[in-house]
Order: sequence, then structure tokens, then C-alpha cells
Amino acid sequence: MTSRRPETAPLACAPSLTNQELAFSAVNAAFGSLGRICMALDADFRIRYASDLLVPLLGAEAASQVRGLSIESLLGSELFGLEGPLRQALLAGEKREGWRAMFSVKDGPARLMSVSVAPLVPDRLGVCDPSATYLVVLRPADESTMEASGPIAGFGLIARSPAMARVFRMIDVLQHSESTVLVTGESGTGKEVIARIIHAHSPRKAGPFLAVNAAALPGELLESELFGHVRGAFTGAVRDRAGRFEAAEDGTLFLDEVGDVPLHLQVKLLRVLQEHTFERVGDSQTRRTNARIIAATNRNLRRLVADGRFREDLYYRLRVFPIELPPLRSRREDIEPMARLLLSRVGSRTGRALRLSPEAVRLLLSYEWPGNVRELENALEFAATVCQGQTLQPEDLPPEIAPATSAAMAEEAPDGRARTLPPPAAVDDVELRAALEQNRWNRLATARALGVSRSTLWRRMRSAGIG
Ligand SMILES: Nc1ncnc2c1ncn2[C@@H]1O[C@H](COP(=O)(O)OP(=O)(O)OP(=O)(O)O)[C@@H](O)[C@H]1O
Ligand SMILES: [Mg+2]
Repeated sequence: MTSRRPETAPLACAPSLTNQELAFSAVNAAFGSLGRICMALDADFRIRYASDLLVPLLGAEAASQVRGLSIESLLGSELFGLEGPLRQALLAGEKREGWRAMFSVKDGPARLMSVSVAPLVPDRLGVCDPSATYLVVLRPADESTMEASGPIAGFGLIARSPAMARVFRMIDVLQHSESTVLVTGESGTGKEVIARIIHAHSPRKAGPFLAVNAAALPGELLESELFGHVRGAFTGAVRDRAGRFEAAEDGTLFLDEVGDVPLHLQVKLLRVLQEHTFERVGDSQTRRTNARIIAATNRNLRRLVADGRFREDLYYRLRVFPIELPPLRSRREDIEPMARLLLSRVGSRTGRALRLSPEAVRLLLSYEWPGNVRELENALEFAATVCQGQTLQPEDLPPEIAPATSAAMAEEAPDGRARTLPPPAAVDDVELRAALEQNRWNRLATARALGVSRSTLWRRMRSAGIG
């Protein structure tokens, strides 16, 4: 929507400004005196007016170019992307208060801001610009607001739980630091995601990010992978080779599954952490590395220390800056915002605007998520594939998440326990086609008629080469 109304003559007191600009300036001054930064957006979510208080945050040059910029580029797609919750709320004519977002500042650390948004109501006197459609009010989020209940977004993440708000705070703090970080959490909680974000927002962001998985390599290979080797150091070492510590110079080395590093290598690792020195395997020359270390594990390192399987000194040296990612089931308030964000990503890959039905949300909230965010991501990808329309329904979800709709997948066995149906290949094509015909190829009706879930029907159709 653009302004069709001619702008009224400027007031005499500020001849270079239009009345609409003066009106915004007055609103701005009022919000500014409360320490709030105010922006007005047009109907396309582009910034139409912005407070001068952006200058100290963005710098004079960037602040002067803010007009016309999409709010998404300033406050992130997690909130303002096409399916972003704040964009959706505004489109529905609703306001939202106390959300938090990382405010991207070019060439500087991102700043955590508290964000409130509201649709602008038309003013009675008609002095305001009618194309100013939405109001966005920002203020710096300080420590005291970190534990507030509003969702928080940034770095490609979104969360609502206090535990994840703390993680955001840590990522924020680490933007200025090169400390060693230890990320712990169950499989699929996002340890590698967090490690990559920390690197991407660190003073070393221009340097490499290299990952080594200690669980994937046997001891000798792991040693050579980390520290390199010289020719002849062992059978097959036909030439000198630099290790990951050398390759990660000026960057970050991500030591994944660090709990699996064998004891004899733990000593060497400790030395690198303390003295930044090491030798290639088979070499006597001492080398230096400045690689920053981010380690991760899904094992309980404290218990490994107690069992004598992990060095205590190394444990403390690694957890200079510990970040614990709780399992998804213990931060259920993150499930819904995360699911919506992940779904919008799945949708944008395939050019679809996908939504979740309230019943599907309820199922997602009541599931235990043993595979954590990875499982949530996969479940949504599955559902998006099964779903024919725009709105994901319970029957589109994988059977383990939607037990009610998948109950039909399991037949009662004589002993009373559930027995799963034979694999899709064993299904009679003729019966499948007949049921589809009878139900005019309506998949939901066909699934009901056959007593199977929609996802099962879909799988059977696929294996029968139908549809
Ligand atoms: N907060 C998050 N937001 C969006 N996606 C996430 C988030 N956390 C994890 N994921 C997704 O979940 C998957 C698993 O994440 P990641 O590999 O970082 O987990 P992990 O803790 O390292 O797991 P593992 O212990 O099995 O290695 C990835 O595909 C990632 O994109
Ligand atoms: Mg991992």
C-alpha cells in the first residue's frame, strides 16, 4: 500500500519537513524519552520512518540508509520472514510485546533487543502518513529481561525457554571472546549448530571452521588427523601432512564427541590448550597453533572423569565456557516456535507456504522427542512431503508422533499386543486402486476407508507407483 493522499504543507516551525515526518518525529521523541527506538513500516514490511536513536547502534551512514529496508533484514527472518511469527501477528491485526531479537549490526557484534510490534491505527486528524502501517518499538534487552517469557530469535534460531535464552546470552557474550567452549547435550540438540554460530559471530569469523569427530576415528588416525604426521611416521604415511590444528590457524577447531578422545591423546590435547604447542606424529619439531577450540559431547564428562576415563584437568580446561543444551522434552515451550521456523524453511525450499494445524501442534507438544531437534526437523520434512495441502494435519506426521492416527497401522495380534502391518510392498495394488476410485482419489477418505493413516497410504501409493 502506498500513499495516494497528497502530503499537507509543512508546519512553519520546520520548513524542510513534511507534516507526516513531523508527526513521526513527535511520536519518536515521546518513545525516545522512554529509551525506545521507534520505526514505522509500510504494508510491505519496509521501514518508512526510523528513529535517530538508530545512529548510535548502526552508525550514521547505515542509519541514513535504513529507509526502504525490509524489517527482516534488520531483525531477522526468524521473526519477520514470510512465515515469521511477528509478521503473521501483524498481518492478523494483532500486537506482540516483549519478544527479543538479535539486531544485526554490520561489522559489529549483534545486539539483543526487546521488540514490540503493533498495527498502526489511523489517526483522527489525518496528519500521519497513511502508508505507515505497522509500528515496531525496540529497546536494548539487558540482563534483567533475559529471563522474561517472550520468545527470542536470532542467529537463525528461535526459542522461548529460559534455558535457551541463557544460550543466546552466552552466544552474545562470546562474540567478543576467543575462549574455549564446551557444548554438551543429548544427540540432536544442536551442539554443532551452536558451535558454528559461535564461530560465525566470533572475532575469527573470517578464518576456517574445521570439525573433527573423535568418535569416528580410531586413536592413531585421530592423532594424525589432529596433529598431522611426517613421512614414514607409520605404515602408509608416504608424505608429510599437516593436521587440523595447523589447518585451523586463525579459525576454530570443532572437536566433536570429545568424550571419545582416548586417554593418551587427552594429554596432548591438554598441552595444546595450555601451551598452544604440539608435534606432528613422528616429528620432534614443536609447532604452535592459535586455533580456537570448541568441543562438544553428548556424554556425561563428569561421570567419565569419576570413572577415570577422562582427565579431570582437561575437563576443566575445556569447560572454560560451558554451554548446556537441554533436551527438547525439558523445554517444551521451544517446540512450537521452532517447529514453525523449521517448517517455513522446509516450505521455502519447495516454494510452499506451510502451516501447522492446531491438532498437529498439540501432537508435537505432547511427544517426547528422543531425537531432539533433529527428529523434529525430520518429522516436519516427512509431514511436508505427505501433506497435499498447505496445512499439516496430525495424519501427516510420522506414526510415532501421531499415535492416534497411526493406531490403525497396527493390528491387534492374538496376544493383545500391537503388531505392525507388513511393509508397503506387500499391499495389494488392486485393492488400493479400488479404494482410491471409490473415494474419488480423496486420500484422507481412502485412508479412513482402508483403516490406515494418511502417511501409510501415501507410502503404499508410492511403492505401488500410484499418484
Ligand atoms: N536450534 C535449532 N534450530 C534449528 N535447527 C536446529 C537447532 N538445533 C538443531 N537443529 C537441527 O537439528 C539437527 C541436529 O543438530 P546438530 O547436528 O547440531 O546436533 P548435535 O547436538 O550435534 O547432535 P549429535 O550429538 O547427534 O551430533 C541439524 O539438522 C540442525 O539443523
Ligand atoms: Mg553433532
